[in-house]
Amino acid sequence: MDSSHGRPIILVVDDSRAIRPVIEACLAGINCEIRFAANGPTALEMIGADPPDLVLLDVQMPGMDGYEVCVRIRANPRFKLLPVVMITARTHTQDRVRALEKGADDFMTKPFERAELVARVRSSLRLKSLYNTLDSAEQVIFALAAAVEAKDSLTERHTRRVAESARHLGMRLGLSDAAQDALYRGGIIHDIGKIGVSESILLKCGPLDTGEQKRMQEHPGIGANIIAPLHTASSLQPIIRHHHERFDGSGYPDGLRGAKIPLLARIISICDAFDALINDRPYRAGVSVDKAIATLRAGAGTQWDPELVELFIAELPVIEHMGAA
Ligand SMILES: [Fe+2]
Repeated sequence: MDSSHGRPIILVVDDSRAIRPVIEACLAGINCEIRFAANGPTALEMIGADPPDLVLLDVQMPGMDGYEVCVRIRANPRFKLLPVVMITARTHTQDRVRALEKGADDFMTKPFERAELVARVRSSLRLKSLYNTLDSAEQVIFALAAAVEAKDSLTERHTRRVAESARHLGMRLGLSDAAQDALYRGGIIHDIGKIGVSESILLKCGPLDTGEQKRMQEHPGIGANIIAPLHTASSLQPIIRHHHERFDGSGYPDGLRGAKIPLLARIISICDAFDALINDRPYRAGVSVDKAIATLRAGAGTQWDPELVELFIAELPVIEHMGAA
């Protein structure tokens, strides 16, 4: 996309052709490529095919109006961070509020001042280039997570199932969107520290000796260090570092007990254990769902948070329906 291979792309969505020369003249001083769409459906098609770095979106258009276009852009997770500035001739506060509610980042009224348009475009593009950097840092981490899965004989489906079931529990617990997001990402990369554990240990068929166990138990700490430079690290680190703590305090790496174990780590721990139990591992075959439930109940209060275990079991029909179990 975009600025990574050249000039940033600005998509102007407006049914009036008269706006084109005006915008082109206003933005002449910015090194960017300007594209035009005359209506909402065309704009959505263009965004999907080759995402721009900024969308300047007219509100009043025949057919699909700008609000609807904005909602549809935001409905796609790929475009959550795509800056959208809505442009309208209306100046009422409720129009601005509505634009922001629909997911716009900014709002401008027509006719606009050249200086104002340039300033807003510049600041939106600056923001977008920052998002791109964050994005690529995360992509590296997720690529690493995929490398770990390949090493550990776990499939991508395992981490996705852990991620999806954990996010579902977060939603049921009424946690914030940010926490649910952290559960999903944390579910995918919680074992990233296994990149620092040799395959002879990860894939060993028999029980691990003391030295091997010690090495294996280093993976949460290694993982927490790997993701430390990420901007999202503060929300993911507690999950990665503490997903092997036990409710009775006998886990690792810090021997945290009960509510001292971060909530998101307690959630991931149950989702991870359940999925591991019902699927085959190099050293044992997977067990039935009933047996896995019995194992979770037996470990409630010692290994896992008993309330979360019950919640997980209660939600299992939904989780299984999601294809997450
Ligand atoms: Fe782990």
